[in-house]
Amino acid sequence: ETRDLATLLLSRIRDVADYPEPGVMFKDITPLLADPEAFTALTDAFAGIAERTGATKVVGLEARGFILGAPVAVRAGLGFVPVRKAGKLPGATLSQAYDLEYGSAEIEVHAEDLCGDDRVLVVDDVLATGGTAEASLQLIHRAGARVAGVAVLMELSFLDGRARLEAALRGAPLESL
Ligand code: PRP
Repeated sequence: ETRDLATLLLSRIRDVADYPEPGVMFKDITPLLADPEAFTALTDAFAGIAERTGATKVVGLEARGFILGAPVAVRAGLGFVPVRKAGKLPGATLSQAYDLEYGSAEIEVHAEDLCGDDRVLVVDDVLATGGTAEASLQLIHRAGARVAGVAVLMELSFLDGRARLEAALRGAPLESL
C-alpha cells in the first residue's frame, strides 16, 4: 500500500530541467494538485502522520507547504499556522535566519499562534538542504512548543537534509512519502 501511494504520487510530479536556473531539476507538484485522487491520497497520508505523532498544530512552510498543509490540518481537525518569508506577517513575530548555498534567508511565525501545549507537525513539499525546515523547527522551539515531526512529500536524499535536521528534531520523526 505504501509503495502504491509512492508510485501514485511520483507519477504526478513533473521534473523540469534547468528551472529556475541552469543545472537545477525542479520538482513540479502542480500535476499532483490538479489530480483529486493523488491530492486526496497525499492529504490522507499526511493526516495519518499527524494523528500517529499526536500533533496539535500543522505548520506549513511558504509557499507550497501552505497548499499541502492546510487540508491536512482540516482533515486531522487541527489548527494551521503559516511560517512565512520575512516581512509578510502583520503581528508580533519570531524570526529565524538561516544559511543558503549563497547568502541567507529569514522566515517568521506569529508568536501567539504556537503555545507550550502544542506539538507541531511541519509539512512541506520538498526537503532539499533542510535549511528551511531546520529554521522552522528552531522557531517552534523558541515559541515554547514541541515538535511532533516533519512530513514532506519528497526528500532529495543526495543533499542530506535529513542529517541537517537531526539535532533540531530532538528525536521526533522525519517522514518523507
Ligand atoms: C522550496 C521548498 C522548500 C524549500 C526546500 O521552497 O518548497 O520549502 O525550498 O529547500 P531547503 O531544504 O534547501 O531549505 P522555496 O524556497 O522555493 O519557496 P516557494 O515555495 O515560496 O517558492
